[in-house]
Amino acid sequence: MKYCHISALVFCIFFLSLIVSIQARHHFHQKHRHSHSHSHKSSKTPHNFTFDVTKFGAIGDGITDDTESFKMAWDTACQTESQVNIIIVPKGFSFLIQPTIFTGPCHGYLVLKVDGTIMPPDGPDSWPKNNSRRLWLVFYRINGMSLEGSGLIDGRGHKWWELPCKPHRGPNGTTAPGPCDSPMAINFFMSSNLSVQELRVKDSPQIHFRFDACRSVHVESIHITAPRLSPNTDGIHIENSSDVRIYNTVISNGDDCVSIGTGCYDVDIKNITCGPGHGISIGSLGKYNTRACVSNITVRDSVIQMTDNGVRIKTWQGGSGSVSGITFSNIHMDNVRNPMIIDQFYCLNEGERCSNKTSAVVVSDILYTSIKGTYDIRNPPMSFACSDTVPCTNLTLSDIELLPDQGNMVLDPFCWNAYGDLRTLTIPPVFCLLDGFPQSILHNDIAHCSRDS
Ligand SMILES: *[C@@H]1O[C@H](CO)[C@@H](O)[C@H](O)[C@H]1NC(C)=O
Ligand SMILES: *[C@@H]1O[C@H](CO)[C@@H](O)[C@H](O)[C@H]1NC(C)=O
Ligand SMILES: *[C@@H]1O[C@H](CO)[C@@H](O)[C@H](O)[C@H]1NC(C)=O
Ligand SMILES: *[C@@H]1O[C@H](CO)[C@@H](O)[C@H](O)[C@H]1NC(C)=O
Ligand SMILES: *[C@@H]1O[C@H](CO)[C@@H](O)[C@H](O)[C@H]1NC(C)=O
Ligand SMILES: *[C@@H]1O[C@H](CO)[C@@H](O)[C@H](O)[C@H]1NC(C)=O
Ligand SMILES: *[C@@H]1O[C@H](CO)[C@@H](O)[C@H](O)[C@H]1NC(C)=O
Ligand SMILES: *[C@@H]1O[C@H](CO)[C@@H](O)[C@H](O)[C@H]1NC(C)=O
Ligand SMILES: *[C@@H]1O[C@H](CO)[C@@H](O)[C@H](O)[C@H]1NC(C)=O
Repeated sequence: MKYCHISALVFCIFFLSLIVSIQARHHFHQKHRHSHSHSHKSSKTPHNFTFDVTKFGAIGDGITDDTESFKMAWDTACQTESQVNIIIVPKGFSFLIQPTIFTGPCHGYLVLKVDGTIMPPDGPDSWPKNNSRRLWLVFYRINGMSLEGSGLIDGRGHKWWELPCKPHRGPNGTTAPGPCDSPMAINFFMSSNLSVQELRVKDSPQIHFRFDACRSVHVESIHITAPRLSPNTDGIHIENSSDVRIYNTVISNGDDCVSIGTGCYDVDIKNITCGPGHGISIGSLGKYNTRACVSNITVRDSVIQMTDNGVRIKTWQGGSGSVSGITFSNIHMDNVRNPMIIDQFYCLNEGERCSNKTSAVVVSDILYTSIKGTYDIRNPPMSFACSDTVPCTNLTLSDIELLPDQGNMVLDPFCWNAYGDLRTLTIPPVFCLLDGFPQSILHNDIAHCSRDS
């Protein structure tokens, strides 16, 4: 993530203060609850209760601030002792919501059913002055929730994308200094048993969905759109999360469709239509010499079209840890630049040069199978650029068929210090993978990423 470091500190301070205040509130609620809910704790009412935000005073005219009504509906639903509590955001209305943290844990399973439109204040000038500029809708410590409905979450990102600090938006196409924080649309934090279904989400100022430290996440049939040139508008970013399934989803935007950060394992991505944008990425990992562990990720049965990258693994020099057990299977590429790419020299020349370092995040056990279609001839169709000191190992290629999108100039695949083998002939042929297993690598780093550590 190009923007992570810019104000990581501010972000941390914000989250710390957030957590402190939430803990305090949570404590209050717990005490409050105990006094009257003791007797029926074991037998939850087997009914579904519904809470319509308009019954809590929300107006939905697109102008009135409906934040308080939403919070009230949330708190009421969250504290109701039935199995399922459904908050309804009705169709035909447009609700303006300020940056808000929706906090759990809740008594029952919570459904936030969005059939209308939800939107934030319009751009940086309308953003509340004393609020974080990195967050809009946050769901925190929720165990069991579905965000669903036929409605729209409209991030109204245009004015944020035009900030002079964004790429090419300064005077005469420069990138000017200045405040650059922009909110992500929806952030699930430290939550589990989540489902996100059917929604349309568009034009986030930054990342559309971000899952941090979550377990058991199921995203299904979502539609995410932002313009091709909107900066940093990743579709779905996951970090420190496991047991994540992302199915039947369509994403076109100005950055990665799906990006997978450190601490993720057991992720299954299936039937994604991705592009235009930057493709599907694992990384970037290992920035500022950090340790990163990512394992057991599958991306399958998907279409990637008119993107800068297809399936990418990117790591910074100087990191440690490993990326292993990755499968890319049955992926159709349509005019993609860099359809298959491993880049262990990832670097965004932000003023400083990225010097060569000896340590790196290990990349191993990567399977590419049935990757077919066309590539943009500005770059080779396959590029495996691995660290000088830490080679990539056990790359397996099977059933690869990539043709130039235009003309018949075929570019040779590129490899640097990459070990692996071919299970079938490939188009174009690959001669650059090294055989066997390098002496220099022991499986220590991968072992060090075991899940209990
Ligand atoms: C209650 O809601 C759940 C989840 O939305 C649904 O599966 C179930 O059929 C509903 N039950 C009733 C009685 O409405
Ligand atoms: C921001 O300021 C308003 C008005 O002064 C206050 O009501 C609100 O609680 C403040 N919000 C935060 C997050 O500090
Ligand atoms: C932008 O470019 C124009 C024409 O080259 C020049 O006159 C103007 O000074 C430039 N503006 C800035 C802020 O650099
Ligand atoms: C997740 O939520 C579903 C739907 O209510 C529930 O049936 C299931 O028990 C929950 N699973 C866990 C692990 O909490
Ligand atoms: C991920 O989890 C690790 C270990 O729990 C923690 O140190 C790190 O700050 C987390 N990263 C993020 C971005 O949440
Ligand atoms: C793949 O996802 C698309 C878009 O959500 C959907 O229309 C299609 O039915 C899905 N295909 C399969 C085989 O599930
Ligand atoms: C890998 O992840 C999948 C879910 O995507 C899970 O079903 C499977 O058990 C995991 N494999 C291992 C070896 O943990
Ligand atoms: C870093 O290593 C690469 C690969 O060996 C080499 O091409 C490049 O020139 C090196 N860069 C520096 C700054 O030494
Ligand atoms: C190589 O990677 C594949 C998965 O792509 C895995 O099944 C196999 O066990 C690995 N081989 C070795 C020697 O680690």
